[in-house]
Amino acid sequence: MENKLTIKDVKVANQVVLVRTDYNVPIKDDQVASDFRIRASLDTINYLREKGAKKIILISHLGRPEGQKVKELSLKPVALKLAELLPGVPVDFVDDVSGPDVEEAVEHVKKGGVLLLENLRFYPGEEKNSEDFIREIIDSTGANIYVQDGFAVIHRAHASTSAVAKNLPVYAGLLLEKEISTLSKAKENPERPLMLMLGGAKVDDKAPLIEAFKDKADYICIGGKLAADGAVEPGDKIYIAEDFDEDAEGNKLDCGPLSTAHFVETAKKSKTVIWNGLLGKSEDIAFATSSTIFLKAIGEDPNITSIILGGDTGGFAEELMKEDDALHFSLLSTGGGAALEYLGGNSLPGLEAIENK
Ligand code: 3PG
Ligand code: MG
Repeated sequence: MENKLTIKDVKVANQVVLVRTDYNVPIKDDQVASDFRIRASLDTINYLREKGAKKIILISHLGRPEGQKVKELSLKPVALKLAELLPGVPVDFVDDVSGPDVEEAVEHVKKGGVLLLENLRFYPGEEKNSEDFIREIIDSTGANIYVQDGFAVIHRAHASTSAVAKNLPVYAGLLLEKEISTLSKAKENPERPLMLMLGGAKVDDKAPLIEAFKDKADYICIGGKLAADGAVEPGDKIYIAEDFDEDAEGNKLDCGPLSTAHFVETAKKSKTVIWNGLLGKSEDIAFATSSTIFLKAIGEDPNITSIILGGDTGGFAEELMKEDDALHFSLLSTGGGAALEYLGGNSLPGLEAIENK
């Protein structure tokens, strides 16, 4: 991060600050199911308040509504969770991203108050990387400083990560700064053997990333939907889950005991384990077995440097840590795809967009 400007390099006192966060969090029954990514955003919000920012306007995406308004993907539950995590701070929500309702909501924000706008991906302009779309947001909020703190989304070239730089200078937030500086250490000289454990549901995104790790990793293990769908070819260093636990309809929803044992054995042979993506449908306790066993195996072993990536995997690790004091992870990152792209040596549009020093 040495070469990028951060919020510490700019005067925020009495400014209206627009902060891009990543609040792409699991929602269940209109409630936030894991606040891992929300808590990770608090340092920047608190910093801006301490430095006397006039208003703090937060923007984020949630899920993949593809330019449509999808009620289940509203950010409103996130605003409620944020209010809980910031006692004494006025936190408001408005169900739009620009226009008269937003102007009015911004008017009402008190000094040092926080306003969360609706899901950016309800509008096609976000994913189209539209300069006009983000300009409308800037105009409606009256923002004069733009902060990029959505580390988990900086691998996307979207309006709030990329095109925004054509409208306002972009400064890195504290989470983004912390993520890059810890991950850059892991990127430089990881202790070998290095294992990449990959799971999760974003099959189309993750499969191509394996290429970037073929030279870097000594072992690559595949679980989750990625394995169940047969989306990856086995190869030289590549092991793909060989057995699964199924539901009544025969859907492969968790890795079975043989595969789990192989994952654990491979981790035990490794000095560094990079893990992104749960190994089964772990939000359902019946299918969380392989993820739980693997997480405990690496978290209880002091000889393994464990690098856990992503909102779901990190959130799952945090839950288990609450119950088990013996668990320790070397690094928990809020970014899944973003962190993998970074560690794999690919360039990140959202990082490129930040002002150079
Ligand atoms: C994530 O959860 O990895 C980020 O929020 C990015 O979401 P996306 O994969 O839908 O772009
Ligand atoms: Mg995710």
